[in-house]
Amino acid sequence: MGATLDITGKTRVFGCIADPIDHVRAPMVFNPIFESRGIDAVMVPVHVPPDRLEAAVAGLKAQRNFGGMAVTVPHKLRLMALCDEVGRQGRLVGAVNAVKFDAERRMIGDNFDGAGFVAGMRAEGHEVNGRAVLQLGAGGAGRAIAFALADAGVGRLVIHNRTRSKAEELAAAVSAAYPKIPVAVGEAAPDGCEIVVNTTSAGLHDTDPLPIEEGLLTSDLLISEIIMIPERTRLLERALEKGCKVHYGRHMLDHQITLIGEFLGCLGG
Ligand SMILES: NC(=O)c1ccc[n+]([C@@H]2O[C@H](COP(=O)([O-])OP(=O)(O)OC[C@H]3O[C@@H](n4cnc5c(N)ncnc54)[C@H](OP(=O)(O)O)[C@@H]3O)[C@@H](O)[C@H]2O)c1
Repeated sequence: MGATLDITGKTRVFGCIADPIDHVRAPMVFNPIFESRGIDAVMVPVHVPPDRLEAAVAGLKAQRNFGGMAVTVPHKLRLMALCDEVGRQGRLVGAVNAVKFDAERRMIGDNFDGAGFVAGMRAEGHEVNGRAVLQLGAGGAGRAIAFALADAGVGRLVIHNRTRSKAEELAAAVSAAYPKIPVAVGEAAPDGCEIVVNTTSAGLHDTDPLPIEEGLLTSDLLISEIIMIPERTRLLERALEKGCKVHYGRHMLDHQITLIGEFLGCLGG
């Protein structure tokens, strides 16, 4: 932990706010990057229970060397309400996963979940612009990804969710924000789509059902996951067996880290 040992009065402080806090990964990701790149910064866990959020934000605002923080459960929605300014994706999603303080100590937030997913796809050579995409799931991550796919200019977006009303609500919201992008609610079937994105949590456990029928997986499809553990979900296993291209869940987080670091101003950008 060289980054913490080398702290001086000039070191900029960043945080990762959560409750509970034990599981947060951002400090373990950011601090080695700071160290390897010689950046004079440190990221610390910031443990704040929901009923102390306002007080904590006031304190962080007053702390002039505190640059900003990654935001995780349960603060993503409430912190957005406390921001002085929120970026477009944050406003569309209705939640922030990073906030920073500007020179006037105004708090600015945004959401990088979806942008991280799209950046991860692009980095692996999977352009989404102009492509027809079937998105499975309309939960928190699915919401962010749907807006980001529309923002990236997908040719068509079909959203399927186990609870249909949530797919309908999300499709309507994406359509309203991106009126030029064709968005529809559909079945869990590719039906002309070239890319299938699983944003459901089905696949975290061996006993989970496949989010799409195995028989519908054909070799012309790209099957994309956002689940990170297991890396090779049952869906990806079946897709590989059928000769599909696959995209792993870790890329979304990897690219989100870069985007959040750039936003916070601690990794350049
Ligand atoms: N790679 C990354 O950086 C990253 C980031 C965030 C999340 N994730 C992963 O994304 C997944 C979803 O997270 P989330 O925050 O969006 O969760 P969430 O808000 O709880 O949403 C869960 C989604 O999965 C669906 N679902 C759950 N069980 C299902 C099943 N058995 N069959 C079909 N659909 C099912 C839900 O459908 P209903 O609406 O019908 O309940 C809902 O659409 C998690 O596995 C999480 O680990 C990855």
